[in-house]
Amino acid sequence: MTRRLILGVESSCDETAAAVVGDDLVVRSNVVASQDALHAPYGGVVPEIASRSHLGRVIPIIEGALDRAEIGAADLAGVAVTRGPGLVGALLVGLQAAKAVAFAHHLPLVGVNHLEAHLMAVLLVDGEVDRPRSRPAFPFVGLLVSGGHTAIYLVRDWGDLKLIGETRDDAAGEAIDKFARMAGLGYPGGPIVDTLSAAGNRAAWAFPRALPRAPTEFSFSGLKTAVRTHIEHHGIPEGDAALADLCASVQEALVDVLVDKALHACASLTVPRLVICGGVAANSRLRALASERGEAVGVEVHQPPRPLCTDNAAMIAGVGAMALAQGQAPSPGAGLDLNAAATLPIG
Ligand code: KG4
Ligand code: ZN
Repeated sequence: MTRRLILGVESSCDETAAAVVGDDLVVRSNVVASQDALHAPYGGVVPEIASRSHLGRVIPIIEGALDRAEIGAADLAGVAVTRGPGLVGALLVGLQAAKAVAFAHHLPLVGVNHLEAHLMAVLLVDGEVDRPRSRPAFPFVGLLVSGGHTAIYLVRDWGDLKLIGETRDDAAGEAIDKFARMAGLGYPGGPIVDTLSAAGNRAAWAFPRALPRAPTEFSFSGLKTAVRTHIEHHGIPEGDAALADLCASVQEALVDVLVDKALHACASLTVPRLVICGGVAANSRLRALASERGEAVGVEVHQPPRPLCTDNAAMIAGVGAMALAQGQAPSPGAGLDLNAAATLPIG
């Protein structure tokens, strides 16, 4: 059966990405160009640098995604692009490129919410990165943990998502990245802290778990302050073992709260399925602890393969493909008035 193929384009932050996904949710190609090296000297994403870098890369990345899928633009049934939330200058680059492809080939253009795409990425099928795994049935609870967001959603169906609670201050990824910067570990901190923690003692130091009486809300600013005070007091550990202990202890404080509150949401909503997603869902300890505690309380825990946790365009194309299949998308040639949105709540 010939599938309707959708091109996805993502440029909300510091990854330029394009992908081709069918309406069967099979990923035909998934190309991501990271800008980590460009932002590393500044210890965080510099919006102007991100926009300029997207400009130079977006067309070759789109061509690369079409080539890897072994199709031409004429074979597409539609184009999906991240509309928000994200850096407006960065979003506009992907949006304009997607509009150009849609206009030139008379295709419908679908604007996709980046957060919704993270939550639905678990439903994609990617033979290149995926071991066979089961996919969650609806409804499921989604724990979305990324550099900009930390929230729990109830996902009832495609396009039917409800926010249950979110962070009052920093996002989980932001908190890890800030800790890594304080400890001089490099950028982005998440994967570095993950690797260093593997050899560490998670109970070496006790860091605070915030808001125990607000089960659906998170706060990581207290953890950040506690870590800063710890470093001011004890200095940055010099030996590898001591550094590993500090990383593992900080990571544990964060991951413990995330898993605890996500499973609490499953219990209070009586939904025994949890999906963890977003860049921080690539974290080894979060993945292990969620599976372990989920199993103990009878909750199925689903996690996308790591390349579908961090920013990518396959998740954008997947949501676009379902929107088109369900007839929510505009007709050919429409959607060209789509604008970027720095903040864009789901629903
Ligand atoms: O979803 P994402 O790629 O971009 C946003 O939408 O924000 O998430 C990026 C965040 C960064 O804070 C990064 O440090 C974190 O995800 N991250 C990780 C890991 N890989 C990426 N955090 C912990 N462990 C990891 N392995
Ligand atoms: Zn993201």
